[in-house]
Amino acid sequence: MKIAVVTGASSGIGREFVRQMDRRYTGLDEIWVIARRQNRLDELKAACGTKIRVLPLDLCEKESLDILTRLLENKHPEVKLLVNASGYGKIGTVADLTADEQTGMVRLNCEALTAVTAAVIPYLSRNSRIIQMASAAAFLPQPKFAVYAATKAYVFSFSRALREELKGRKILVTAVCPGPVKTEFFDIAESKDEIPAYKILFMADPVKVVKRALRDAEAGKFLSVYGPAMKLAYLAAKALPHGLLLKVYK
Ligand SMILES: NC(=O)c1ccc[n+]([C@@H]2O[C@H](COP(=O)([O-])OP(=O)(O)OC[C@H]3O[C@@H](n4cnc5c(N)ncnc54)[C@H](OP(=O)(O)O)[C@@H]3O)[C@@H](O)[C@H]2O)c1
Repeated sequence: MKIAVVTGASSGIGREFVRQMDRRYTGLDEIWVIARRQNRLDELKAACGTKIRVLPLDLCEKESLDILTRLLENKHPEVKLLVNASGYGKIGTVADLTADEQTGMVRLNCEALTAVTAAVIPYLSRNSRIIQMASAAAFLPQPKFAVYAATKAYVFSFSRALREELKGRKILVTAVCPGPVKTEFFDIAESKDEIPAYKILFMADPVKVVKRALRDAEAGKFLSVYGPAMKLAYLAAKALPHGLLLKVYK
């Protein structure tokens, strides 16, 4: 049984991955979709032609990861594509956000992503792909988004090393690093503080970000960056001292 596994599938970028994979990859027998909101996953299932297996799991709970691991053991699928898109960010200073809000980002964006990746790796076949949702926030430390940016720097670094580890098995890892994308992400992100106004100018369409990401993953690229502004941000963060960039970045 050939499958894809998508976390964060109940909204935004993860849901868009499922929609586009449903249209694009006819060879998949099932797409396993993971998030907490079952009603959203059921709606997605009803809208797709591919068989969708709904897994309403909270990836911050160890029992949820055990359920996924047991299901993989029982079904023994051939995983062609893993997309890790669950994640959240909270805008605000480290002093202003609660400890739970900050450690929660680490648990979901880093720990859960790592655990899901490790659980799925034994089932990935040759020429399969792993797509990890990082962010342009991985390129440079971000005051007032400090923990979120640090979690995405983790995803970026983890993904690059993992790609080296898996390339002998012809499994390719792509880190997707968009700037702001128009999704429900900001409903959670802006509960304490708001996104800087200039970032709204660069707000991208999730349909386009996902289309780019699937093309880049198919082409075997490590990095998927949507749009010229974020490509420039990537090059600037590589070329210029971060101390200098942080003086102009607000
Ligand atoms: N939007 C942006 O500006 C942007 C930019 C760069 C990178 N990203 C990254 O892209 C990814 C997707 O973000 P998005 O924009 O699509 O945000 P979103 O619309 O808020 O989607 C987040 C997804 O994560 C799931 N999720 C949250 N907590 C979870 C938990 N404990 N267990 C399982 N699933 C959980 C949510 O589902 P439930 O609530 O149903 O559990 C939802 O499906 C994230 O990693 C984000 O950091 C976003």
